[in-house]
Amino acid sequence: MKIGIDKIGFYTPHMFVDMNKLAVARDVEPEKFTIGIGQSQMAVAPVTQDSVTLAANAALEIIDDEDRDKIDFVIFGSESGIDHSKSGAVYVHRLLGLNPNARAVEVKQACYAATAGIQMAKGHVALNPESKVLVLGTDIARYGLNTSGESTQGAGAVAMVISANPRIMELEEHNVYLTNDIMDFWRPIYSDKAFVDGKFSNEQYILFFNKVWEIYKEKSGLELKDMEAICFHLPYTKMGLKALRTVLDEAPEDVRERLLENYQISTTYNRNVGNIYTGALYLSLLSLLENKELADGSRIGLFSYGSGAVGEFFTGILQPNYREYLNIAGHQNLFKSRKEVSVEEYETIFEETLPVDGSDIEFDISKDPATIVLSGTLDNKRQYVNKNR
Ligand code: CAA
Repeated sequence: MKIGIDKIGFYTPHMFVDMNKLAVARDVEPEKFTIGIGQSQMAVAPVTQDSVTLAANAALEIIDDEDRDKIDFVIFGSESGIDHSKSGAVYVHRLLGLNPNARAVEVKQACYAATAGIQMAKGHVALNPESKVLVLGTDIARYGLNTSGESTQGAGAVAMVISANPRIMELEEHNVYLTNDIMDFWRPIYSDKAFVDGKFSNEQYILFFNKVWEIYKEKSGLELKDMEAICFHLPYTKMGLKALRTVLDEAPEDVRERLLENYQISTTYNRNVGNIYTGALYLSLLSLLENKELADGSRIGLFSYGSGAVGEFFTGILQPNYREYLNIAGHQNLFKSRKEVSVEEYETIFEETLPVDGSDIEFDISKDPATIVLSGTLDNKRQYVNKNR
């Protein structure tokens, strides 16, 4: 039985800051951000968006009545969780009006969590072929104003329906995964901003890729020439390129050119959104699929990396007419309708956070064009609104 990605949706907040302008404000050469880091725009999340609303908005785009009935498992992958106890999946389940006879859980391992969710979903569908699983990768990347990680922030979510007979991509066998307890990036419970050992995190990302790729080749008997493209977890678009370059010598010139060209296409959306942690790899996949017509049957490699750290390499096969099941126009509109904010406005929005003393607050949700928004907190409970229901 084929199991894989049947639908894929995406949401990013309605505001962004221009990386050239951020560079000027930080007294850095713009090329450092646009070429050295490889980012053009960075999504800015208003206080009315959190990991729950981003995920729900991404899912809203792809869920129909049949999915509402058949989805019996919601997996919320995030490192921007809003509660130590209750999972974000339960809120999303309600906001989307899904079948009550469903499991709903949150999965955490830095940027790797959505990949763990996909693999769990695959197992669930193998045992229950009629089921559909909603997998969410949703995050707001925050390092802080004037920090070295600032240029690699971002916000957004990817939602995927995993099912039998998938219409977009079948997931193949031969997954290779690796865990090692390291401190390259982490966020203690008391902090709303990440801590990072930047250079070490770059090194470990590449090391993990090299290790899983070597084992993958042995296990599968496949090589670079068998990959139409490789999509990477993209904390910033230069990162995947650094990793890809370490293995390109293994391939003949034509394969190198193909992989480099497809890599650039796979960074299109990420370059204008920034790091969305758990969703970043799948946003890269979406960029590739929506910005190039690849042949049916093409094999796509995927490298997932979650600091701390867990890495995985796996592959998928594009299904016949897969482009008919994408929402290319919808995503182009999402990007076109975004509004640029100045660096000063971004700084003000960044500092606007929920009260941490338990007091109530009510937000003006008319300023946020998203369908699903956070309207405030009441009695220590986040208040969510689906404007269409
Ligand atoms: N023109 C062109 N390029 C320039 C330039 C200019 N004028 N000035 C500098 N550059 C280049 C540098 O040469 C460098 O390129 P290389 O890496 O290819 O050598 C690049 O711009 C970045 O410069 P620095 O290394 O000096 O940048 P930095 O020290 O300020 O920080 C960073 C970069 C370490 C990525 C930092 O932004 C950071 O810590 N980010 C968060 C951590 C992160 O994203 N790590 C990635 C791996 S971990 C992961 O993937 C999980 C996750 O999601 C967090």
